[in-house]
Amino acid sequence: MSIDLKGKTAIVTGASRGIGKAIASTAASLGINLAIAARNEGPLTETAQEVAKKYKVEVLPVSCDVTKLSDLEGLVHKTKEKFGRIDILINNAGVSSQYPFEKQPFEDFERLVHTNYLGYVRLIRLVINDMIQQGSGAIINMVSGSTLCDPLPRNFLVYSSLKVGLRAFSKGLFWELRDRGIKITSILPGVTDTDLTGKLKEITTDTSRLMTTEAIENAVRFALTVPANVCPLEIAVINQQTPWTAPVIPFKQEHPGK
Ligand SMILES: NC(=O)c1ccc[n+]([C@@H]2O[C@H](COP(=O)([O-])OP(=O)(O)OC[C@H]3O[C@@H](n4cnc5c(N)ncnc54)[C@H](OP(=O)(O)O)[C@@H]3O)[C@@H](O)[C@H]2O)c1
Repeated sequence: MSIDLKGKTAIVTGASRGIGKAIASTAASLGINLAIAARNEGPLTETAQEVAKKYKVEVLPVSCDVTKLSDLEGLVHKTKEKFGRIDILINNAGVSSQYPFEKQPFEDFERLVHTNYLGYVRLIRLVINDMIQQGSGAIINMVSGSTLCDPLPRNFLVYSSLKVGLRAFSKGLFWELRDRGIKITSILPGVTDTDLTGKLKEITTDTSRLMTTEAIENAVRFALTVPANVCPLEIAVINQQTPWTAPVIPFKQEHPGK
């Protein structure tokens, strides 16, 4: 039996471009109304207009810096004011960082912690009580395929270890809330062709190895449409061929730097 999501409300962070924009479109294609968030208003408003027009749903753009608690509170408040409730939260906003650890600036640690970890946990905390009261809800966290690598990919240690923490948090939260009707899903994408990876010279030298957002969109569609009594806890959609997969795919590949 297919799940009818028409008229539900979702928050999608980091939705002005890249993976966030693609999955906001996927949610809209299922008839879900959206509050989309990012810092820069111009591209965010453009995305909101484009998605609303294409999928005939309501899309509220909310300029929001996920590193600021007051902005997150404003995002939740404006979403509830417009749509009355929040059924789905897709935590996706994120920044990348590639440094040999001994050269990584201290301020980069703060930026990563506040955006890629604390931003997610705080926003969940801000919506979770309403979901508990509703007895239903779905939370999707954009984690990373790099969390499957052991050891973590070199030059991405702080980024990847925070994603490991986020993945552990998401799983733990599911167990903590599993009798409350709330689904919590971690999506672990491989290296995807977006602005975020535009800077990864080492990998983009062979761009055919990069994924498009298509598999991630399918993963989000799957997570949102499984039967009510099922939770897709983790979905990994990693590259068939990329250096980072060397530790997890059992055929011969070079790990970067080897
Ligand atoms: N691309 C990959 O290969 C890959 C692989 C695994 C996981 N991921 C994860 O997927 C997510 C999306 O990545 P992407 O590749 O789509 O990145 P992207 O193309 O750089 O897009 C990032 C989005 O997040 C927003 N954002 C960044 N910082 C923000 C902040 N402080 N507050 C609010 N919004 C913020 C950006 O808009 P503004 O700049 O206007 O705020 C933009 O909409 C991230 O969590 C990333 O870690 C990506």
